[in-house]
Amino acid sequence: MHQNQKNKHVTSAKNIARGDHIPVLLDAVLSYLAPREGDSYLDLTAGYGGHAKGILERTLQPDQAVLVDRDQNAINYLGKAFKGQPVEIIHKDFLTASQELAASGKRFNLILADIGVSSPHLNTASRGFSINLDGPLDMRMDQRQDLNAETIVNSYDEAQLAELIRSYGEERRARAIARAIVANRPVATTGQLAHIVASVQPRGGKIHPATRTFQALRIAVNSELEQLKLAMPIWIDLLEVGGRLAVISFHSLEDRIVKQALLEVSGNRYDAQLELLTKHPVTGNDEEVVSNPRARSAKLRAAAKINNQKERRD
Ligand SMILES: C[S@@+](CC[C@H](N)C(=O)[O-])C[C@H]1O[C@@H](n2cnc3c(N)ncnc32)[C@H](O)[C@@H]1O
Repeated sequence: MHQNQKNKHVTSAKNIARGDHIPVLLDAVLSYLAPREGDSYLDLTAGYGGHAKGILERTLQPDQAVLVDRDQNAINYLGKAFKGQPVEIIHKDFLTASQELAASGKRFNLILADIGVSSPHLNTASRGFSINLDGPLDMRMDQRQDLNAETIVNSYDEAQLAELIRSYGEERRARAIARAIVANRPVATTGQLAHIVASVQPRGGKIHPATRTFQALRIAVNSELEQLKLAMPIWIDLLEVGGRLAVISFHSLEDRIVKQALLEVSGNRYDAQLELLTKHPVTGNDEEVVSNPRARSAKLRAAAKINNQKERRD
């Protein structure tokens, strides 16, 4: 099932992972990665193991299965969920982990990155990601990191804040929001921040008025775009010839990076490394979006590594 397959997919109830994180586009991931017995697998954002479980059920005893996450809670969960199985669990950001795997000469048949936050991030007030739950202004995916959202909100000057909110949040009212934040400092909680941002936004609209500001802060705290931009070429290097890469992103800034990185090394060129399996990003259908709100903005792109003769696995 490749380029001309239907671009809508559903995660059926029987596939839903345990815990409160439901993997998005699971059926699509399985059909594009097409795991086979013995395939090696690298999951760069293993989270609560939903995708990994589906894939490892199909690869059975791979010679290598590596699960990466930067969040301590996810790592604890993965340790329990995959106890006794031949998987290596790495508690690092995916850029560092990918660099180290590449330096040690590792190659994989299947690579998945399902980037962004998990449901436990959004549903736990103390992690500070949620607009709707009042908690500290944290937003760190990696609890060992020093920089958090509170530091940015309370120490950046107005121009820096406006630029951050404009560029990472694609927020048109970034300057007014930055001005309001600076006028109301110190800001300690997500609830205070959401209230300040809402106070300078027009009423109404389909999304919470602070959504874009929260997105911008989260991206900055976790260096999300830099991580993705630098890691994409390494993931392509880490693929075996015939191997497949799938990346799920959740907003246009990420999807643009993924698309660009795949296009740069594919197409009708003598040195192409990839064949694109998705001409357009794959999205969830209505059923999946209703059962899993995170699927609303998920976009999946996939590619297969080719050799110079442009052969690839069927
Ligand atoms: C959308 S969740 C992944 C869920 C997973 N696919 C599943 O089925 O449970 C994203 C996960 O990636 C992790 N993450 C995001 N960016 C990361 C990065 N740069 N390095 C390592 N982990 C990252 C987050 O901590 C989170 O656990």
